[in-house]
Amino acid sequence: MKAKVTLLSGDGIGPEICQEALKVLSAIEDKYDHEIEVREALFGGIAIDQTGSPYPDQTRVLCKESDAVLLGAVGGPKWSDPKSETRPEKGLLDMRSDLGVYANIRHIKTYPQLIENSPIKNKYLENVDIVFVRELIGGIYFGQKERNENDAMDVCQYTKDEIIRITQVAIELASARKNKITSVDKANVMATSQLWRSVTTDLIESQFKDIELEHILVDAATMHLLSRPSDFDVILADNLFGDILTDEASMLTGSIGMIPSASLGNESFGVYEPIHGSAPDIQNQGIANPCGMILSLALLLRHSLKLETEASAIESAVNETLNQGIYTADLSNKDVVDTAHNGFSNRI
Ligand code: IPM
Ligand code: MG
Repeated sequence: MKAKVTLLSGDGIGPEICQEALKVLSAIEDKYDHEIEVREALFGGIAIDQTGSPYPDQTRVLCKESDAVLLGAVGGPKWSDPKSETRPEKGLLDMRSDLGVYANIRHIKTYPQLIENSPIKNKYLENVDIVFVRELIGGIYFGQKERNENDAMDVCQYTKDEIIRITQVAIELASARKNKITSVDKANVMATSQLWRSVTTDLIESQFKDIELEHILVDAATMHLLSRPSDFDVILADNLFGDILTDEASMLTGSIGMIPSASLGNESFGVYEPIHGSAPDIQNQGIANPCGMILSLALLLRHSLKLETEASAIESAVNETLNQGIYTADLSNKDVVDTAHNGFSNRI
């Protein structure tokens, strides 16, 4: 098949791990006879340096003309002055909103090979397989913001329609899994959470009687994720809570470097990125774990290009790599390999 992918390598370790994903993509193209045109565009801090904007118009146009976007990471100390006019992260939020990708899917599954690497006791980690559905283009990230010297404000707002559409994504995923949704909120304090709780309850109880719906307050959710992680199936959360809980949950797998994500809207188009950030502290040392990035490519092939066999081939290659004990430094403290010497593409 022919397809167009826009590559946004971004900042920090972004370019290093994107190179690894590109090697894997070439191996897929060769083996399965596809022609996937990859066009790279400026994004994040590097785009601010070169154009003044973290999400320049030219990047916007390329993204919109593509079947999917593959994204490394954005941000770094160079652009993190709280007083600066624009930040790389603003580009990320603008891009997500502009492209309408409201559902961010983050799958947290423990790899038996890595279980010793998790800070959590092994007995809690068996059968952990959680799909997070994070609302991505609403809530406090996108509400009115104001700031002056003595006063600042971030408004959190959700409409019923926004809650319904993200709940429908959770329902669809749960229906193909264990039919269980845990919705996370702070309904004892926040008005948006009260609306969230009533909309999710009405929708699921009226139309999806097979689905078990559990509500849990976000503070309790942080504990339950550690004390009973294998009880969860699909976790539904707003933008901020989903952001925080998925970083926490990544520790169940032992390294945030392992986790890919898909940000989807109503069509097959999507933005695919690992959930870790730009990790400037390890940038240019060749030690970053490329797995989250490579697994994000697998999700791109599966969801946007409908190439299930190819997506599974990548996931098997990652699994096989771990089976062979080929680890980057975040996964082991001995005999580690560099970002670029993992041999993934040879296992396709
Ligand atoms: C993520 C990141 C972003 C977010 C940052 C970089 C703005 O933490 O994708 O989880 O908060 O959404
Ligand atoms: Mg985050």
